[in-house]
Order: sequence, then structure tokens, then C-alpha cells
Amino acid sequence: MKKLSTYVLGITLLGSLSLSIQCKGGEKKSNATAEKGATTAPVSIQKSAYGTTPEGEKVEHYLLKNNAGMEVGIITYGGRITSLSVPDNKGTSANVVLNFESLEGYLNENPYFGALIGRYGNRIAKAQFELDGNAYTLAGNDGENNLHGGLKGFDRVVWEVAASEAGEVATLKLRYLSKDMEEGYPGNLNVLVTYTLDNDNNLSVDYEATTDKNTVINLTQHAYFNLSGDFSKTILDHELQLAADAYLPVNAVLIPTGEIENVEGTPFDFRTAKLMGKDINAEDDQIQKGLGYDHCWVLNDQDQGLREVARVHHPASGRVLTVTTDEPGIQFYTGNFLDGTLPTTQGGNYGHRSGFCLETQHYPDSPNQKDFPSVTLRPGEKYNSKTVFSFLTQ
Ligand code: BGC
Repeated sequence: MKKLSTYVLGITLLGSLSLSIQCKGGEKKSNATAEKGATTAPVSIQKSAYGTTPEGEKVEHYLLKNNAGMEVGIITYGGRITSLSVPDNKGTSANVVLNFESLEGYLNENPYFGALIGRYGNRIAKAQFELDGNAYTLAGNDGENNLHGGLKGFDRVVWEVAASEAGEVATLKLRYLSKDMEEGYPGNLNVLVTYTLDNDNNLSVDYEATTDKNTVINLTQHAYFNLSGDFSKTILDHELQLAADAYLPVNAVLIPTGEIENVEGTPFDFRTAKLMGKDINAEDDQIQKGLGYDHCWVLNDQDQGLREVARVHHPASGRVLTVTTDEPGIQFYTGNFLDGTLPTTQGGNYGHRSGFCLETQHYPDSPNQKDFPSVTLRPGEKYNSKTVFSFLTQ
């Protein structure tokens, strides 16, 4: 059923162009083993100890495996994806998410590798906002702005996790109670994030939350991908297609100006597949402000709910990643701040643009931008959001 819905979404949302590329390229949703084993080999989950935080909290590692050769490692610290192995078009598996060797790497300063982000993904200008006439002050952890929830966001807390292997899906339920005024945000926020791996190489991330006071919320996932599986390489040879006719220009500190700009004739036009590297160094004021791509695209068909919005193809390996979401925006970030200081798991350091992120979300700074879709969550309401990362080969 999942497979069918992804297929239908692919047709309707990235349109006939994407479909014809898929057919021509002989794209496969899963490998031969998967098709054969679909009814026999079950998904599995292995749990192991991963370490202890400086506060003495135990951190566990869960390895989710399906029968199509996909494996996903997730730790309870920050709900971080620490590995994600998928086959290339010759059937050879490799890990395609930037990661560290051990817990220490994640505890050390790092740009949110693999993490769940909250309460507010992306930036809030001057680390402040007003809600119902009350002013709230957050930590300025990105110059004067608040980024990704503050000093100790959801990426730096230990989540309570329940694992289950039901039918043909492996599921991890991660819970966290963010207390009233934690990091300056109002309301006790009960958060549930569910990671689900199925046998069609779909990793779903379902976000739910409730609050006991009016608050703002914008949850996302911050995995850095490099579909080559070779972290000494940049991502500039990956092709990207985005179902977005517009993007949000930013000021010098990456806060949206409030304008919604058409991508036509700009380096931000990914309506048809284009190499990430093609226009990344263009002489363009917005590219210069982002030091490359570090912007939120305004996704099309926002009233259609869950739809395929992004497709990345790495020609050399044949790996394809599609992103399906019900969110209105996606931050496409090309690892412009990776500067060769953090160690890879392959014996080297993460260089400039060695990973890209596709962070599904509401628009940055929405609490201060009255014309952007609302990010307010009120008592009695339920925050719901879904993103699916799907892997194929072509
Ligand atoms: C932001 C970047 C930031 C990165 C790591 C991304 O979501 O858009 O500006 O450098 O996260 O913090």
C-alpha cells in the first residue's frame, strides 16, 4: 500500500517529467532480494548500548533492518540517525548519512548531524517573538538569532524509545516532554516522533505534539546525505529536483525578508532536475548570502497534504532519494559551513559541501512573520507532520 501511494504521489506531484525519467532509467523501488523476500524475511530491530552522557544518562542504539538491504541506525541521544545504508545500482550497500564514530562525536560541538530538531527548526530573528501579547526571549545561539531550538534543543536530549517489529515495518517511537519555558518556549510540550522503516526502503518520520499553553513549534530532521557514500567527495555531482516555484530570500543573517520570490531565471530554479553544483557559485546576492544554498523553498501544492516534493539522483552510484511531506517548506542546505574540522568515519574530515540536508518544515522565523503559515499550537490541538525519505536506484 505504501508503495502504491508513493508511486501515485510521484506521478501527481513531481509530474510526468519525473515519471518518464523513472521509467527510462529503469528505476527500481527495491532490489531483487526484497521482491523475493517480501513475504518471508521480516524486518528486524537490534538494540545495543551506545554510551553515557556527561549527565549520566544511558544512550541506546537501535539498528532497523528491512529485507531490501536497507539499514538505519538511530540513537536515543537527539533521536539522531547515525547510519543509513542503502544499495547502489549494482547492489553494493553503503552508508549515505554523515556520521561520527561514537557518542563523543555527537556530544561535541557539531552542526546537528542526523538530529531531530525542535522546538523550532531553523531561525527565529533576534531570538524573540510575541504570542498573545506576551514577549518570549530565546537563546541567541546563531549570532543574535535562535537556531534549531536553542542551546539544548531536541538534538541534545535523550529520548525515551519504544521499538516494535509489527508486520512488515520496524518502528521506533521516541518521546520527549519539553517542560514549560524550556529554552524560553512556553507550554509543556509532549512530543512523539515515530521512525518507521518498511520493506520498500521508505523511512517515515511522523511528528506529533500537544501543549498545555499556546506555543510555537516547527519540528524537522537534520540528516546530511551524500549518496556517493564516500565522504571525501562533495555533493555537487548530485542532481536535485524540487517541486517549488518560489523560495524565501534572506537577509545577511539568513532571516527571510518576508518576500516570496519566483525561482524562474534564478539559481534557485530546481523545477527540473539540475546538478547541485551547477549554479552554487553563481554571482547572485542570495547565493552569496547563503554561501551557497541555505534557503527555504516554498513548496507547491500545499493544500494537497502528503506529496513528493524533492528528488535527488546521484548518477555515479545510481542512488535516488525522494522526499515526501505534508509541510509547506523545505530548507535545502549544501553543507556550506562544513569546514574540514570534523572527523568522518572513513578516515578524513568532513569538507565543504560534503553533505546536503533537505529539512521539511514551516518557514523560518514564522513566529515573527504574520504572512507566513502559522506555527502556533494551542491546548486541545494536535501537531501532526509527516516526512518520508525513500531510497531507490536508477
Ligand atoms: C541551516 C544552516 C546551518 C545548519 C547547521 C541548517 O538547517 O540552514 O544555516 O548552518 O543547519 O546548523
